[in-house]
Amino acid sequence: MQATFREVTVRRVDAPDPLSRASRSAAGHAALSDLVADLAGVESSEVVIESRCPDCGGPHGRPVVMAPDAAVGIRVSLAYAGDVVVAAARRGGAIGVDAELRDRAHTGHDERRAIQALAPGDGDPLIRWTRIEAVLKADGRGLRVEPGLVRFEQQAGRLVAGAPDDPRRYAVRDVPLGDDVIVTVALEVRARDDWGGPAALRSPARP
Ligand SMILES: CC(C)(COP(=O)(O)OP(=O)(O)OC[C@H]1O[C@@H](n2cnc3c(N)ncnc32)[C@H](O)[C@@H]1OP(=O)(O)O)[C@@H](O)C(=O)NCCC(=O)NCCS
Repeated sequence: MQATFREVTVRRVDAPDPLSRASRSAAGHAALSDLVADLAGVESSEVVIESRCPDCGGPHGRPVVMAPDAAVGIRVSLAYAGDVVVAAARRGGAIGVDAELRDRAHTGHDERRAIQALAPGDGDPLIRWTRIEAVLKADGRGLRVEPGLVRFEQQAGRLVAGAPDDPRRYAVRDVPLGDDVIVTVALEVRARDDWGGPAALRSPARP
């Protein structure tokens, strides 16, 4: 299942073994390679995606397309929720995706309470959380940034977000990829985008 809007593609696939982190990650990276190959017009086997942690140098962190040349510059992001794997890619600015299962058996009151404590606000905490994590993945720092400091505002009819110490602005969009999962993407807004541009966030606001 996938959703495509403008130059962004968000694809959902199943994890073969949701309990195995390695197997989920392999499914996610394979899905990313397929997406990048489709966008760049190359074979999936040509696509090289690397992750490097800026803290420890280990093979984890934000995924970056390294090859082939035709695909370099395509930005990618991954998220896992139970047996759901979500891969997203676009040409242009940064992208972040996050997913959470809606099922309360998986995401119970404790998790919702924890989100409320970390990032207080109105509305469904799970939706708030996927929006925040999508922004922080697009930003690239992840939860090194305090999640409660991500700010949201409606601009020109769109939800726009910003993170502390990052001048970039992100258009935030919930993506319908099945009733069982909440999926959100955050897309860096570039000056040429036609919906009003990346104006400064005027006041702290929560989703
Ligand atoms: C990004 C982050 C919020 C994802 O958290 P999560 O809920 O556990 O996992 P999700 O299912 O939502 O997403 C996992 C994917 O996020 C991506 N990711 C990891 N770190 C990322 C970062 N800094 N920026 C963007 N994406 C990142 C990876 O693609 C990862 O999948 P992979 O390992 O199979 O490639 C979390 O890993 C984080 O905050 N990382 C930064 C802090 C950190 O890594 N510290 C370690 C220092 S040694």
